[in-house]
Amino acid sequence: MSDDKIIAVTGATGAQGGGLVRAILADPSAGFTPRAITRNPASQAARELAAQGVEVVQADLDDEASLRRAFADAHGAFCVTNFWEHFSPEREVAQAGNLARAARSAGVSHVVWSTLEDVRRHVPPGDERIPTLAGGYKVPHMDAKGEANELFRRAGAPTTYLHTSFYWDNMITFGMGPARDEDGRLAIALPIAGAKLPSIAASDIGACAYGIFREGEDWIGRSVGVAGGHLTGAELAAGLADALGETVVYNAVSPEEYRAMGFAGADGLANMFQFKVEFEEVYCAARDLMVSRRLHPGLTSYERWLEQSAGRIPVPVAVG
Ligand SMILES: NC(=O)c1ccc[n+]([C@@H]2O[C@H](COP(=O)([O-])OP(=O)(O)OC[C@H]3O[C@@H](n4cnc5c(N)ncnc54)[C@H](OP(=O)(O)O)[C@@H]3O)[C@@H](O)[C@H]2O)c1
Repeated sequence: MSDDKIIAVTGATGAQGGGLVRAILADPSAGFTPRAITRNPASQAARELAAQGVEVVQADLDDEASLRRAFADAHGAFCVTNFWEHFSPEREVAQAGNLARAARSAGVSHVVWSTLEDVRRHVPPGDERIPTLAGGYKVPHMDAKGEANELFRRAGAPTTYLHTSFYWDNMITFGMGPARDEDGRLAIALPIAGAKLPSIAASDIGACAYGIFREGEDWIGRSVGVAGGHLTGAELAAGLADALGETVVYNAVSPEEYRAMGFAGADGLANMFQFKVEFEEVYCAARDLMVSRRLHPGLTSYERWLEQSAGRIPVPVAVG
């Protein structure tokens, strides 16, 4: 039997956890081996992992006992929840609690919890600079993750709090790619005025998490943020224009205009961007590029990400 340390990876079939699995597999002599956790080992993504020799284990974030079994004998656990599947901050907190207690009772030596700021610590619910949403949240998917940090502490799980950044992949997977404006020009709409947005290739979050596991116990009890760049909306548009070979305009919409777009979660995302603009300095400082590069020396730049991924960004055809 191999002496490699097992890293149990939730979200292994997704963006962050998938990046961690690939980073572990790419470094076979380092003494780690991934265990992919999924609700459905028969899914195509899970079968592709198994075909690469990855151990695949069934568990559900809603079921603490299943997580305890999936974490058994593991050295490390990467813990990520997916707010966008259910849009419930309360359920996200409950899932994080299950992860924290399961990691503790399984005796995992190092947990990396994929988290974000609880915006209510900066803008309390009574402060309507950022509108309060149902249930007393400012940014439900951020507040829930930040609130859950305490559950890892309370469980006594040896945790590193990994603060993530906006994915460039949102242009492919989250409908945030360019659209055509009334003049037929490509445009990206973001309510971030002239602020710098810490952002990253989603897969690099997992690769940075691997760096944390590799560096080991010095990280326990600490927070760290990662980003591949701190880019303005104009810089995001200019990079896209270079990659697509066509002008791309940056449309700096207001938070109110963004909210009015009306898609599911638009109000929470408008609040999220408003927070990132109003707290630009502290939010960027929490995602240091040097630290990110130390954790993942192959950290992808925006230009490189575009070289690799621009072909997958849906681009509406020009009319006329
Ligand atoms: N988009 C962004 O810019 C951004 C930036 C920072 C943070 N985030 C956060 O990233 C999180 C999502 O991570 P991601 O993008 O890596 O996910 P993703 O690519 O959308 O994939 C979701 C993953 O979560 C797993 N999962 C979901 N519900 C589960 C459950 N009940 N039990 C077990 N596994 C479950 C899925 O596994 P199976 O389907 O195989 O079971 C899948 O691997 C969200 O909470 C979001 O707030 C997003």
